Amino acid sequence: MTATSSETASRGVERLLPTYARADLTIVRGDGCRVWDVAGREYLDFGGGIAVVSLGHCHPAPAAAARAQLDRLWHVSNLYRSEPAEELASSLSDRFGGAQAFFCNSGAEAAEAALKYARKATGKAGVVALEGGFHGRTLGALSATGQPAKRAPFTPLVPGVRFVGPNDVAALRAAVDAEVGLILLEPILGEGGVIPLERAFVEAAAELEPLLCFDEVQTGAGRTGTFFAFEQLGVRPELVTLAKGLANGLPIGALLVADGAVGAFTPGDHGSTFGGNPVSCAAALGVLETVDEALLENVRKRGSQLTAGLEGLAGVVSVRGRGLLLGAVIDGNAAEAVDAARGDGLLVLTAGDDVVRLAPPLTVTGDEVDEALSVLARIFC
Ligand SMILES: Cc1ncc(COP(=O)(O)O)c(C=O)c1O
Repeated sequence: MTATSSETASRGVERLLPTYARADLTIVRGDGCRVWDVAGREYLDFGGGIAVVSLGHCHPAPAAAARAQLDRLWHVSNLYRSEPAEELASSLSDRFGGAQAFFCNSGAEAAEAALKYARKATGKAGVVALEGGFHGRTLGALSATGQPAKRAPFTPLVPGVRFVGPNDVAALRAAVDAEVGLILLEPILGEGGVIPLERAFVEAAAELEPLLCFDEVQTGAGRTGTFFAFEQLGVRPELVTLAKGLANGLPIGALLVADGAVGAFTPGDHGSTFGGNPVSCAAALGVLETVDEALLENVRKRGSQLTAGLEGLAGVVSVRGRGLLLGAVIDGNAAEAVDAARGDGLLVLTAGDDVVRLAPPLTVTGDEVDEALSVLARIFC
């Protein structure tokens, strides 16, 4: 292949609505932690498609499961029962310790389901969410997203959302009154700067009357070293949302409702034509079978290795996060660092002006972590 990235991009990029500031890089192939561009150049992928490609590109387990399902049945609608959706719901229930699932197609849709579920279950429209939090771009999810720049062009939004600072227990308690039916929290604010919530804060949230929903769209499916990040916080929520890494890159979202909180949705309350798609659910089952204790141990070990390596680099002020969702606060501009790393063959992400976010596949090896660190050492200094 001789075409450059820009030649390829020029064939169609102007036909996409410009909702993303895309880099001029056209990726055409992936394998494990590596991707290749249209000109054949190799990159080490420590962005993982924004924390989505949880097992690495084209991992054989979800690939084989999805392929087999493609040959059997693509879609039946939710008018009928579906084996992959029921198996996935059962498997997620086992991981959670007893829950029912609603399947949709994205993280934002999972947030919408949580917002509607809480309204129906509690009869209350009020929501407490976090300053800096991110739950998606649809109007309900955006209404609970604590990032004013993303909200401002789209007002009026859904009313009733109050924002408090992450880990501010007093503000949380003050924000919850008789009108609030839902507290919506990311265990680690991902887009908002890789900011982990403290145990005392989530314990306070769990003690309050409203339903507690953890948005585990970015932190779930093993990314932080346990299947759910909340397992490390000593708190079990009533609701959890999942998406990104759940099917290793095929579109899927899920709302889990704990057994003690089920019963609010009845037929007709909510739905999604593609929700529970058999191919996506089959891929997700392949992911769940692969995210075992050995892989979670790899996440914890590689996360520690990456944290220690980053902390030792000149230009790194501090390192936040857990497992393989890490943010390096740098003494410089994160977007420029991301561009420079890409030029040096390493894909990483930003999470705010001065935070470089790392979310490699959970299968990353020690050698790949060292390789990424050696690129970052050149970039950050
Ligand atoms: C924590 C969190 N929730 C929700 C979303 C929205 O997910 P999606 O882009 O699939 O709608 C994201 C996306 O980055 C996220 O990080």
